[in-house]
Amino acid sequence: MMLVREHWYVVLSSGEVPDGKPLGTRRLGLDLVVWRDREGQPRAAVDRCPHRWAKLSLGRIVDGCVECPFHGWRFEADGSCTSIPAHPERPISGAAALDILPLTEAHGFIWAWVGPGAPDGPPPFFDFSGYTCAGSAFTAEWPVSHTRSVENQLDFTHLPFVHRGSIGRGLPVDKEVITETDGDLIRFGSADSGIMIDFLGPSIWRLPTGPVWQFLAFVPVDEERMVYYSRSYQRMIRVPGLSWMLGKVGAVFSQRVLREDEAVVCSQPPGATRLRMGELLVPSDGPIIAYRRWREAQLVDLDEVLGLKGTES
Ligand code: FES
Ligand SMILES: [Fe+2]
Repeated sequence: MMLVREHWYVVLSSGEVPDGKPLGTRRLGLDLVVWRDREGQPRAAVDRCPHRWAKLSLGRIVDGCVECPFHGWRFEADGSCTSIPAHPERPISGAAALDILPLTEAHGFIWAWVGPGAPDGPPPFFDFSGYTCAGSAFTAEWPVSHTRSVENQLDFTHLPFVHRGSIGRGLPVDKEVITETDGDLIRFGSADSGIMIDFLGPSIWRLPTGPVWQFLAFVPVDEERMVYYSRSYQRMIRVPGLSWMLGKVGAVFSQRVLREDEAVVCSQPPGATRLRMGELLVPSDGPIIAYRRWREAQLVDLDEVLGLKGTES
């Protein structure tokens, strides 16, 4: 799958990967097994045992190693095979290793690194200090490329149309959309309202206005499928039970708004977007044009980075 090289992508929330149990999931165009090693660190590998290609995610975790359900081969956190029960005396070939996808965990998410270079630091994140997102998290899966979902959140002039029954009620159509870029940050918004929104490529988005700030992560499943991870951050209420309830109410509202988007965005062709693909982009699409330029300048094929070309991934 084509992704932005040498960046961290959100792939899961921390709570989705328990201790002691492998998770099978599809992310970044790959079937992955994700588990926690003996230090509790998340690990991911292509979900295919090198022996006879059974799914490792159907196996179990033993002492931080993932064990294949078929013949019990065991793999360490670095992907190396440490046990072949049918041949305990034979040396184990280095070829009996898993294809590992580098992961880290931060801000309640698990992030995957797209090479080819090594990670150059932790994943950048927005400053939410003093805010809580208790109770507000939810996910929504859409049958479109993550690029379509990102662009939907970079699109200012859809608000009075798609959301005329909710957040766009009574809004004028903005005649001037501002777009500012700074490295991986695209900041955009409306000259009329003064609302400015941040997209920090490739994965995260924040609407920092009012008492409740909206946050989204865009998670690629494969070329034509993605998952939103949504949170609302607020600092009005700190009492645990009450802040959790406010988060829940925010989630219900955000889900409704996102369903309005889904109905239209999922009517677009589902594949990845490109700068020149025949769409008729106009000046108010400035943030989308900036995103496409930023993305296309640094694309890499993750299968090639991991050396998976020529195999079924
Ligand atoms: S297929 Fe995994 S141990 Fe045989
Ligand atoms: Fe929208």
